Amino acid sequence: MLAIESKESRRRRRRRRRRKKKKKREESMESGKKEDGEMEKVEFDASEIEYVSYGGEHHLPLVMNLVDQELSEPYSIFTYRYFVYLWPQLSFLAFHKGKCVGTVVCKMGEHRNTFRGYIAMLVVIKPYRGRGIATELVTRSIKVMMESGCEEVTLEAEVTNKGALALYGRLGFIRAKRLFHYYLNGVDAFRLKLLFPRPELHPSLPMMADKYESHMRSYHGNAPSIVE
Ligand SMILES: CC(C)(COP(=O)(O)OP(=O)(O)OC[C@H]1O[C@@H](n2cnc3c(N)ncnc32)[C@H](O)[C@@H]1OP(=O)(O)O)[C@@H](O)C(=O)NCCC(=O)NCCS
Repeated sequence: MLAIESKESRRRRRRRRRRKKKKKREESMESGKKEDGEMEKVEFDASEIEYVSYGGEHHLPLVMNLVDQELSEPYSIFTYRYFVYLWPQLSFLAFHKGKCVGTVVCKMGEHRNTFRGYIAMLVVIKPYRGRGIATELVTRSIKVMMESGCEEVTLEAEVTNKGALALYGRLGFIRAKRLFHYYLNGVDAFRLKLLFPRPELHPSLPMMADKYESHMRSYHGNAPSIVE
């Protein structure tokens, strides 16, 4: 998860978000719904999940809603736009029966003589977790990064975020660094890194993306439907 805004603007945004969340909680209690943490799991088959790459402005509020709900760092609309306008091919959304249930937002570029991918945001809503949706979203972004010539992929995750750390660990990411008090909430981050083989050492690199994808698909058994 990315941390980029100034402390003061993030503080203001957090206060607004806390007020919004409180209001939402009060509304859901009034309507008799369970709170987020207790939300019922939804029954669905993996083949019912549709994965689409970022398709334009109509997707932006869906991405923002999900990330605002689930990540501790508050982002401005400019941050979202920076990513999805410049690298739409690296952002994906997952839908179930028309409802957006997960998203991943990424970028790529030169960094200290390395061409690298970066995963900025990843969210799956609670009732849909534990069914491989995040794995599929991330795998799709990584595949495009690989095909675009990235040599590595990085991201940051809170050291307390067991789910994300386990997920990325299973995808082959290593913990490269600990960043102290990286987030506004004071929590440290791990910088995670996935290294791709260098083409001069691995002439079969163009094939690697397919191998990586099929490895991930077999890891989760059911291959989800592809709609792009
Ligand atoms: C982290 C998150 C994206 C995972 O989404 P998901 O769709 O449930 O992930 P997957 O089903 O693809 O999980 C794949 C693997 O990750 C690991 N994992 C995921 N969630 C886990 C959890 N809560 N506890 C332990 N391991 C977990 C497991 O190894 C899992 O493999 P398994 O199902 O074979 O055990 C989701 O929990 C989420 O949105 N969390 C809030 C936002 C967040 O923390 N984003 C990451 C910021 S870095």
